[in-house]
Amino acid sequence: MQALHTINDIRSALKQARRAVEQTKLTSTVGMIPTMGYLHEGHMSLIRRAKSECDLVVVSIFVNPLQFGPTEDFDKYPRDAERDLRLAEEAGADFVFMPSVQEMYPAPIKTKVIVTSITDVLCGASRPGHFDGVATVVTKLFHIVQPDQAYFGMKDAQQVAVIEQFTADLNSPVRIVRCETLREPDGLAMSSRNVYLNEEQRKQAVVLIETLRRIDDWVAEPGMTIEKLTQHIRGNIESAPLARIDYAEIRTYPGLEPVASMEEWHANQPILVALAVKFGGTRLIDNRIFG
Ligand code: PAJ
Repeated sequence: MQALHTINDIRSALKQARRAVEQTKLTSTVGMIPTMGYLHEGHMSLIRRAKSECDLVVVSIFVNPLQFGPTEDFDKYPRDAERDLRLAEEAGADFVFMPSVQEMYPAPIKTKVIVTSITDVLCGASRPGHFDGVATVVTKLFHIVQPDQAYFGMKDAQQVAVIEQFTADLNSPVRIVRCETLREPDGLAMSSRNVYLNEEQRKQAVVLIETLRRIDDWVAEPGMTIEKLTQHIRGNIESAPLARIDYAEIRTYPGLEPVASMEEWHANQPILVALAVKFGGTRLIDNRIFG
C-alpha cells in the first residue's frame, strides 16, 4: 500500500497502477472510499467491499474544514494517521490519499457545489453550509482520483442522498454504492465521534438503536398515526436522561419529503426515520429505512 500526500502523486500513481492492471485485463476499475480518518470497522467494511468489487482501492483521509461550522469540532476532530494507514492496509486499500488543507485549498475557493432543498432539512438545518462543504470536497476528490465507483455508508443517509443528487444532476461518471451501517455489539452505530462519549453517555447512547428497533412494534399498533409515532420515538429517546434531541423525523428517502400519514408510510416507497441526539457536547446520528 502506498500513502500519497499530493494531487500530482496520487494521479501519477493511479495512472501507473491502472496501466499495470490493463496489461492483464481490458479495463481497470478504481473504487474510492472518502473518509475523514480515525478509521473504525465501519470505514473498513467499505474498504473491504471496494476491494471485493474493484481492481484498485483508494482511501482518502482528509478532515475537510469546509464542512465544519465555526463552533464545530474541526480542531479537535480525532486524528491518528499512523493507525489509519495500518487499518486501511489491513482492509485492503492499495492507495491512501492524505492531502494537507493547503494541498486541497491552496487559496480560498470561489466555487462550491450546492445541492438545494434536500439540504434544508435534518442535518442540513442544524448544520448550515455542512452539505455544501461535503458536496464540494467530494467533487474535488472525484476529480482528483477519478474513481469508477465510490462507497458511502448509510449511517449518513442524508449525505448519500446529497451525493447521489449532485452526481446525477452533474452527470458524474462515478457510480455511488450505498453500504450498510456497521454497529458495536450493543447496536451503537460506529462513529469516529464515539470516542468523545464518557462512560455514562456511552451507555445511554444505545437508546438510538433501541428506539429505531421498536418502531416495527409501534407501526403495528392499531390507530397509529405519524404524530403518535413521532411522539413514541421522541419519548423513548428522552427516557435516557442525558439525551438531548436535535431532531427525530420521518421522511421519504431519498427525496426527504415529510410523510403525512401512515397510508403514505405503507405505500410502496422507502421511508427514513432519522435521529440526531446530543449527549453532552457530542452529537450522534443514526437512522433506519423502512419499506
Ligand atoms: P467519515 O465520517 O469519516 O465517513 C466516511 C465514510 O464512512 C462515510 O461514507 C460514512 O457514511 C461511512 N461510515 C461512517 N460510519 C459508518 C458505519 N458505522 N458503518 C458504515 N459506514 C460508516 O462522511 C464523511 O467522513 C465525510 O463527510 C466525507 C464523505 C469523507 C467528506 O468529507
